Amino acid sequence: MTKITIAKGNGIGPEIMDATIEILLSAGAKIEIEEIEVGEKVYLAGNAAGIAPESWKSITTNKIFLKAPITTPQGGGYKSLNVSTRKFLGLYANVRPCRSLAPFVDTKHPVMDIVIIRENEEDLYAGIEHQQTDEVVQCLKLISRPGCEKIIRYAFEYAKQQNRKKVSCFTKDNIMKQTDGLFHKVFDEIATEYPDIKNEHWIVDIGAAKVAESPEIFDVIVMPNLYGDIISDIAAEITGSVGLAGSSNIGEECAMFEAIHGTAPDIAGKDIANPSGLLQGAIMMLNHIGQSSIAEKIQNAWLFTLEQGIHTADIYKEGTSKLKVGTKDFAKTVIENLGKKPAILNSVSYTNDSAINLPKYQRKTPLKKELVGVDIFVHWTGTDPNELAEKLKSIESEETKLQIITNRGIKVWPDGFKETFCTDHWRCRFMPTENSLITKNDIIEILSRADLENIDTIKTENLYLFDGKTGFSLAQGQ
Ligand code: NAI
Repeated sequence: MTKITIAKGNGIGPEIMDATIEILLSAGAKIEIEEIEVGEKVYLAGNAAGIAPESWKSITTNKIFLKAPITTPQGGGYKSLNVSTRKFLGLYANVRPCRSLAPFVDTKHPVMDIVIIRENEEDLYAGIEHQQTDEVVQCLKLISRPGCEKIIRYAFEYAKQQNRKKVSCFTKDNIMKQTDGLFHKVFDEIATEYPDIKNEHWIVDIGAAKVAESPEIFDVIVMPNLYGDIISDIAAEITGSVGLAGSSNIGEECAMFEAIHGTAPDIAGKDIANPSGLLQGAIMMLNHIGQSSIAEKIQNAWLFTLEQGIHTADIYKEGTSKLKVGTKDFAKTVIENLGKKPAILNSVSYTNDSAINLPKYQRKTPLKKELVGVDIFVHWTGTDPNELAEKLKSIESEETKLQIITNRGIKVWPDGFKETFCTDHWRCRFMPTENSLITKNDIIEILSRADLENIDTIKTENLYLFDGKTGFSLAQGQ
């Protein structure tokens, strides 16, 4: 028996939650339910987070949270519960199965059945942004080894549990050799632990184009946060059945399961909403907690029901549909169909009745880290890089010399092109002369001299070797 926390949410939430729970219990799910109140009422009672402290306690104790859609009131500083749940509970993986249900739901891609696994905590979404000069702002892209290992291991464990045959990784590591390069490298490392599952890497642009054009060639796809955000929406949309999809957010301790759609206020309380999205979320939950045979039974009964043509109003269409039903009757039909398998739609077979195994990240032995140079970023409104180089010569020391200046990553000194457009944001790399070393103190001294010379330094990045390997990128053109 697994104790779970549920929240019925707002709008159609209560109706679709009741229908979902009824199906789960009828199928024999071994769950004990604890209900909490989240969303509109809690917000309007003056709690800006939309959730009371004792409700957090329920979620962190039970660790499994099935959530119906909620309304976040507009204005007034209300915080999105989805965002805070993800952040506070460390839910690092967002999982979105995107499956076509043709001919019962219209789609251009009738044979599509992919799962997008998106890293959810880091990348450009760390939200660390700064304006550095009049003309240039920056967003830090942070990719960590623990972040990569957790999400990539999750993708392979998910594939293993769900009998999936291939995991594809999307990155742009031909350009971002450090950040996306790390993601790709960790993917290659972890893939070797799963010899029965195929693995492949795609550069994200062509990979995304292939998802849109021939999604049937993919199975599970894992990717960093930004690419995952965009591609999971595209993939869900082209199945044609985004309104019927569920998703999950997985952490080391806790996990949250939900429908993708919102509260549908236009149809709330009328017993016409389709409970399928939340049911899909609940099926993902059963798989996650190791009740896969029950998940399988429900999924096949649901597919059989769609195939029978017993449809709620949102997907009802003359020709393929036979009977238009409301929320309650749809649930009743799925329950009657428990034990049946679809004939036209592919049935599912979840053979692995154990919960997904996710070992905690173990910190590695530290690498040997050597300081070998520094990039000093300068705000300067001149246009001729040779002039800037002259100024910077005055802050060199015997041991530390200016090596290169770049503007937006492109080399402009020495031997730049006069055609290169330059902003007011210059990266000036200082390296020790041959046979000398650089220390943190040398960097402080360069900065002090820059200050005396009225050179406006805006930030520095230390250049390191890790176990002798270069830990920074070279400039384009270097
Ligand atoms: P929505 O998904 O609620 O509705 C869009 C359209 O799809 C409406 O016509 C609706 O009737 C229909 N629809 C949605 N779910 C359906 C279902 N299960 N069965 C039949 N028809 C369904 O999106 P909308 O209108 O943009 O948002 C409404 C509210 O939902 C907003 O307050 C929004 O903040 C909230 N929302 C909450 C989410 C969550 O809690 N995870 C996610 C998205 C929106």
